Amino acid sequence: MAARVPTGFKTARTARVQDEGVRLMWPGRQWRTAGTATTARTARTATDGGEGRPPRSAAATHDRHDRPRIFDVTGEADGPRTQRIIHGDVLDLTGALVREGLGGKVDLVYVDPPYASDRDYVAESRLDGPADGRVVRTAAYEDTWSSRTGGIGAYLDMLAPRLEALSDLLGPKGTIWVHVDWRASYLVRAILDEVLGRDAFLNEIVWRRAPNLGRQATSGQFGRTLDTLVVYGKPDATLTPPTRLEPIEESSIRFDEQGRPFTSAPRGDYTDASIAKLELEGRVHRTASGRVYIKYFLVKDEAGIWCRERRVDALWTDVPPLRHVAASERTGYPTQKPRALLERIITCATPPGGLVVDAFAGSGTTAVAANAIGRRAVLCDRSAVAIATARARLLRDGADVRIERAAGAVDAAEGSAARVRIANDAHGANGANDANGANDAKTARVTLLAPAEPMAWAVGTMKDGVFTSAWHAERALGAKAVAAAREAVVQRRHARFVRVWGDDGSVTTTAIEELST
Ligand SMILES: C[S@@+](CC[C@H](N)C(=O)[O-])C[C@H]1O[C@@H](n2cnc3c(N)ncnc32)[C@H](O)[C@@H]1O
Repeated sequence: MAARVPTGFKTARTARVQDEGVRLMWPGRQWRTAGTATTARTARTATDGGEGRPPRSAAATHDRHDRPRIFDVTGEADGPRTQRIIHGDVLDLTGALVREGLGGKVDLVYVDPPYASDRDYVAESRLDGPADGRVVRTAAYEDTWSSRTGGIGAYLDMLAPRLEALSDLLGPKGTIWVHVDWRASYLVRAILDEVLGRDAFLNEIVWRRAPNLGRQATSGQFGRTLDTLVVYGKPDATLTPPTRLEPIEESSIRFDEQGRPFTSAPRGDYTDASIAKLELEGRVHRTASGRVYIKYFLVKDEAGIWCRERRVDALWTDVPPLRHVAASERTGYPTQKPRALLERIITCATPPGGLVVDAFAGSGTTAVAANAIGRRAVLCDRSAVAIATARARLLRDGADVRIERAAGAVDAAEGSAARVRIANDAHGANGANDANGANDAKTARVTLLAPAEPMAWAVGTMKDGVFTSAWHAERALGAKAVAAAREAVVQRRHARFVRVWGDDGSVTTTAIEELST
C-alpha cells in the first residue's frame, strides 16, 4: 500500500510509538502506550462521585484489557443481526471484546466522546412532542474538567487509553473515527499519532453542524459551527467516499455528438497518460485553440435539474444539523448526532455486514444507522439514560437488541415498581403482539397501570438473570409524541416479569404473580 506520509517525514510503520514523533505531555500524565501499565486516572473515583453525581470513570485503575469478567447479560435478543448495547465503561467493552476474540476484527470504530466542553449535559424527554408540552429532564453525562477535578490532563488520561484500547480492536483494513470539535481535535491527533503512527492518518473531516447564526455570528470571531472527525486507519485501510449531485448552471451545459449533456473543466493535474485513457472513454473535450478539458457527463436530480456527480471531499456541508432533521429522529439526548452523518461514515468505511463499534454511544445513532444499512454494531455507554434511549430507539426501528451490563456502568436512580393488571384473553390476541404468534385461549392481557408514561416497557421471562422479552412497547417520537401502548397480549407462560425503562435511565424489573388457570 502506498505510504500516506508527507514528503520528508520519517516514520517506522511497524513501531507502535514512534520515537521520532511528537509526543503529547501533560502534568501528571498517567497514560503509557502499548500495554505498559496503562491506567486511566480520572478526576473522581467510583466512591467519590460528588454531589450525588456519577463518577466520571469507574475504570480508574485497570489495564486496558485486564478487566474482570464483566458482562451480566440482561438483554433480549442474541443472533447474527443483533445490535449489542453494553452498559459500562469503554475499557469494559474493549476488554470483553478482546476476550471474545473480536480483537483485530472490527471494521470501524466511531466515537463521539465528551469534548472537554466544561459542561454537564441533560437529556430532555418531551412527552408531548418537541415544540411544547411536558418535558422530563435528567442528568445524562458530565464533561466538566475543572482544575479541581484534574483539568485537561484528567480529560486526556480518560481519553487516551480508551482510544488506544479501541484502536487495538481494528482489523487490518479498519479505521477509527473520533468526532470532536475545536476543543479536542488537535489533542486527538497527537494521541492517535502516538497510538497508530503519524502515517496512519487518513483524514480530518470538517462537518458543518450548525448554521452561523445568533451568538456564533456576533461573537467577534468566525463562528465555531464546525465539528471535526479525525480519521486514522490500519495499514490496509481505504475509504470509499460517496458522490453527491451538484447542480450545473444551464449556460455551462454542452451536448456531445450523441446528445449527452456534459460540463467541462480544465485538465488540472491529470497526466498525459490519464488524458489518453480518458480520451478513449470519450471524456476529453478540445477547444478550437487545442486546449484540453475534461468532460463530466450530467445526470438529473429528483427535481429534474442537470447535475454533475462529484465525489465528496473532507468538507461536509451537505449533512444537515440535528435541529433540521425530522422530529421523529430527535430523542432529546444531548449532543445526539444525525443519523445521515453516521450512515455516510459507516457506508464509506465498512463492507456490507461489517462490524462497527461505538464506545461513547449516547442515544445510539451509530447502531440505528448500522441497522438501517445492514451492519452490526456494538455500542457502549456509561450513562443509564443513554442506554435506555438507545434501546428504545433501536426497538422502535425493529432491530434485535441485546443489552449487557459491565462493572463500570453508572446506575440510574431506582425506578418505582411496575403495577400491572393481568387477565386471561379468552378471545385470543387480536393485536397478534405475541412474539411467538400465539392467538388462542392460552394468551393473557397485561395492562400496565403504573408508571403512567414509561419510555418503554416489556413483558417477558427471566432465566439465570437474563430477561427475555416476549412483547415490548416504546414511546414514539415525532411532532406529536405517542405514549407506549399500555396493553400487552402474550402467551401466558411468557407473562412472568414486567420490565420498565424510565426517562431517567432507571430499569425496574417486577415479577408478576402466576396467572390463574
Ligand atoms: C457526545 S455523547 C455521544 C452522543 C452520540 N454520538 C449520539 O449520537 O447520541 C458522549 C457519550 O459518552 C458517554 N461516556 C462518557 N465517558 C464514558 C466512558 N468512560 N465510557 C463509556 N461512555 C462514556 C456519555 O455518557 C455520553 O453519552
